[in-house]
Amino acid sequence: NQHSTALIMIFGATGDLANRKLFPSLYRLYQKGKLSRFAVVGVGRRTLTDEQFKQNVQNSVAEAIDGSKDLEAFASHFCYHSHDVTDSSSYAALKNIADDLDNKYSLGGNRVFYLAMAPEFFGPIAIHLKQDGLTDVSGFKRLIIEKPFGHDLESAKELNEQIRTAFAENEVYRIDHYLGKAMVQNIETIRFSNAIFENLWNNRYISNIQVTSSEVLGVEERGRYYETSGALRDMVQNHILQMVALLAMEPPIRLTPDEIRSEKVKVFRAMRPVEGEDVKNYFVRGQYGKGLVEDQEVPGYREEQMVNPASQTETFVAGKVMIDNFRWAGVPFYIRTGKRLESKSTKIVVQFKDIPMNLYDKKDQALTPNLLVIHIQPEEGITLHLNAKKAGQNMEATPIKLSYANTGIASINTPEAYEKLIDDSIHGDATNFTHWDEVALSWSYVDKISQAWSSTTAENFPNYAAGSMGPKESDELLEKDGFFWWPLS
Ligand code: BG6
Repeated sequence: NQHSTALIMIFGATGDLANRKLFPSLYRLYQKGKLSRFAVVGVGRRTLTDEQFKQNVQNSVAEAIDGSKDLEAFASHFCYHSHDVTDSSSYAALKNIADDLDNKYSLGGNRVFYLAMAPEFFGPIAIHLKQDGLTDVSGFKRLIIEKPFGHDLESAKELNEQIRTAFAENEVYRIDHYLGKAMVQNIETIRFSNAIFENLWNNRYISNIQVTSSEVLGVEERGRYYETSGALRDMVQNHILQMVALLAMEPPIRLTPDEIRSEKVKVFRAMRPVEGEDVKNYFVRGQYGKGLVEDQEVPGYREEQMVNPASQTETFVAGKVMIDNFRWAGVPFYIRTGKRLESKSTKIVVQFKDIPMNLYDKKDQALTPNLLVIHIQPEEGITLHLNAKKAGQNMEATPIKLSYANTGIASINTPEAYEKLIDDSIHGDATNFTHWDEVALSWSYVDKISQAWSSTTAENFPNYAAGSMGPKESDELLEKDGFFWWPLS
């Protein structure tokens, strides 16, 4: 199959992402016979022999996947190039390796360049790939690029211009690994293939939508990066706003990348910009202090490695996103994400409006509203909260749940996400990657918030204890609208 034939060049091949996600994902594709002919060149700064690199690849697969076999055969497709990203002669050597492999495996000149390394090199590498002839191929050429895609709109634009000197927009695959998660992909299916939801999916029947992505882990060894980022740039600009776009978009004419993207773009355009003084009415920032996580005392963010002891970086964000269009006018989309929270959970709760007259509402027991909960991780599934008659001789209503669990999928689904996305990119399916227009619009939304935050000091940091569900202002954000965060369990 010509389409699954490619030379894959991984920049950052000795890094964490390559070892934890990319090699295991490639291995799974290999095992499933989805890579018909392929070779991988690992590119990194370190000096390694091909043999050492092949061994690394085998180790990382063995660590990630129980009972993995045929590791040697798999690793035989890999080789390594010790590279200087700024030196043309190093690219010339890389080109020779690539051309040889292309002949050896009959790869038809198809090339996938995967940038899994520090973002400051993304632009220079793209420029060199073009200049030094690596993108001059007879087959397809594609660039897969990891986040962060810039630091704000301006730097994202600059990066985009550099990349576009070597690759056309439809050759650029910007990874947002949330879009590879099975249940994120399911948002569209649930919405657009069920009459009972699509008819209710608007401001007449939905009172608010809550999107939570909480983590138990702290910042770990990523202090240096995280200090320049914070939760708003790290999670909201990409993963969270992408989920909001999928929840809010109009049905696309067809399920093609262009049609879906153009609907998502309209959502970003309809997001009410929040800026200046007004930011505090819509967004809350938090930073964790020390606390108890799974019965262990853990340090606060300011005590973490590579973190400024007076850091102003937020590790938590809650916000109210308003989408000012016909379908959503008046319906808040509440979002929240943070590190060192109570549980690792990504969930969407769609809260329906109360029925106009409730015959069962008792003073001591109000009916619960209908909820549609989409469980993205760690469990994968859907729960619909309804009310039904209580058993016995009475006329009382009681809440019940209809649940569907996406079984057969391991509890950790991130490698699955990478596997899907790599497969898609080799096949040229850009549906679950972010287009430049989406990136630009989401940055311009987020930039206004970060500008407001950087112009004032967060006097109350740290304002939530590790192991809690964030600062009290996050609860107040919903309370003032008459809502509350639905519990995650
Ligand atoms: C990454 C962020 O994009 O997503 C990390 O940079 C975060 O800070 C991670 O931990 C969360 O991904 P997941 O799949 O574990 O929810």
